[in-house]
Amino acid sequence: MKIKMNVSIAILLALTIVAGCGGKNEGASTIAPNPTASASVTTSPTASPSAGTTPTTSPTATATTKPSSNPVTSPAASPTPTKNGAVQVIAKPESITVLVNKTNSLPSSYEPTDLVYPNIAFTFSEKIDKRKMRQVAATAIEKLFAGAQKDGVPLAGVSAYRSYATQKALFDSYVKKDGEEKAKTYSAVPGTSEHETGLAIDVTGSNGKCAASDCFGGTKEAIWLEKHASEYGFIIRYPQGKAAITGYQYEPWHLRYVGSDIAKEIQAKKVTMEEYYNTVPVSK
Ligand code: DAL
Ligand code: ZN
Repeated sequence: MKIKMNVSIAILLALTIVAGCGGKNEGASTIAPNPTASASVTTSPTASPSAGTTPTTSPTATATTKPSSNPVTSPAASPTPTKNGAVQVIAKPESITVLVNKTNSLPSSYEPTDLVYPNIAFTFSEKIDKRKMRQVAATAIEKLFAGAQKDGVPLAGVSAYRSYATQKALFDSYVKKDGEEKAKTYSAVPGTSEHETGLAIDVTGSNGKCAASDCFGGTKEAIWLEKHASEYGFIIRYPQGKAAITGYQYEPWHLRYVGSDIAKEIQAKKVTMEEYYNTVPVSK
């Protein structure tokens, strides 16, 4: 950290930048086991397409309409497209299938109520918030890590939950480093990061190399995740070649828990979450 910065901000940044999602040069060190918006209000989301889980954030007006079995083409499963890319505040941020992106923002006050520490290795040893995930996602990531280990691909967590304030500090640091336009290609504006849901985690190999960096792509860990993450209810949220739809460059390390039914469907159809919900691209 250069220049003047008060101590608390400096500490916060030190804790976050090291494992921020999508940032460059965020190398990890040791692998440690787990010690013990702005505008209009969206309407209620529709129910989860095929998983039967709680509704998504889908800000459609058909709040109580059950989505069709083909969510990719079902408008009922979609957030209402905004004509001018305006950000809508998500009505049900606690939904497991919530769609969070550049046009669907969590309320800045949102804090998941069931965050726990998953029992998995991380690239750092401190018992801090960024280890946390929501209970259902924590259980699933433990199973995913065990499955990967069994296949000879041990993994380590890099960064999971972030509060709005933490995401803000992280995003602001990237803006300082790269400018706002570039920062927005790899880091979410506070309120719009999936890490704020407690359902997302960045992972890397157990050697900690290439943590949240482009060089993670093509590694055996990335290949294993592409193939197996959906079996545990996770998707690679920002796939290669889909930046025009998701708004973010390829992030082979960013896993989002959505439940295994939806994850498997998204994987089989090779679509993004935006396409799954049939929303407009959010690249701007
Ligand atoms: N890197 C992803 C987009 C985030 O900041 O949440
Ligand atoms: Zn991430």
